[in-house]
Amino acid sequence: MTVTDPRRLREIVDEICDRMAAETDRGHVADYIPELAHVDPRRFALVLSTAEGNVIAGGDADTRFSIQSISKVFALAVALGRIGDQLWSRVGREPSGDPFNSIVQLEHERGIPRNPFINAGAIAVTDAILSRSEPREALGQILQFVRFLADDDDIAIDPAVAKSETETGWRNAALANFMRDFGTIQRHPEKVIGTYFHHCAISMTPRQLAQAGRFLAFDGALSPGGARAIAPRMARQINALMLTCGHYDGSGEFAFRVGLPGKSGVGGGILAVAPGRAAIGCWSPGLNAVGNSHLASIALEMLADRTGWSVFAPK
Ligand code: DON
Repeated sequence: MTVTDPRRLREIVDEICDRMAAETDRGHVADYIPELAHVDPRRFALVLSTAEGNVIAGGDADTRFSIQSISKVFALAVALGRIGDQLWSRVGREPSGDPFNSIVQLEHERGIPRNPFINAGAIAVTDAILSRSEPREALGQILQFVRFLADDDDIAIDPAVAKSETETGWRNAALANFMRDFGTIQRHPEKVIGTYFHHCAISMTPRQLAQAGRFLAFDGALSPGGARAIAPRMARQINALMLTCGHYDGSGEFAFRVGLPGKSGVGGGILAVAPGRAAIGCWSPGLNAVGNSHLASIALEMLADRTGWSVFAPK
């Protein structure tokens, strides 16, 4: 049975928020980007933005957080919109089975990253956007796209987070330089990672994230049968990549436990998609061993269990 009744969804969200508030093991807040280390691990939020237009929000739904790698979804949509299938000549579509910031496969695979959601892949996607625009303009396009999706201009890049990563992101600099040598990226590596760090530093609330994810739940449209953000084929492809690669070397586990496309970020956010039903924004800053939010993963597993939402369930 699949739950759609908003009152039942409200009870489920409340139950999950209560359970998560009581959890003592909250994972570990990322500190390799110094600015993220200050975030309070007690935070938790869960927001559903449903096909019927209901927004069911619990916990810290209106607190801004750093979306980090979730921005890779929006950057991918922008890049596909700009250069289409040409993008796939520089980035693959296979799960990597390695950590998000790994460099090991790049040498064997001639500088072509496995998928657009590992860091190397997102840096290659960012370079593809920069083939048509300068950094400021490219960032403006990504930010405008996110604001359009969420119908909310109060979404911005947090300059302190961008600066913090620019000062410490040596591993991403290594990935970019390595790919520049192979010709996967064409612009200067410093420009590319500077742009990448800034889109990772987009800050928004879990409520805004759930709204911004709606286009993936409704086949590229902002609501069922509504205004279109991207082509249906593209939305389906992005969902497929989120399911198979959205949680790095934890992607199989997430698909097994939750059964929905999802994209995590080291800020502790997860955007999950229940096609035809809802977009889901979940946030808790503490991470598990593979860099995905510990409690948001558990909360989404509970949500899938209670609602029956799964891409593997018959409609
Ligand atoms: O490049 C980085 O390391 C960060 N800006 C983003 C990584 C990230 O969010 C991985 N997600 N779980």
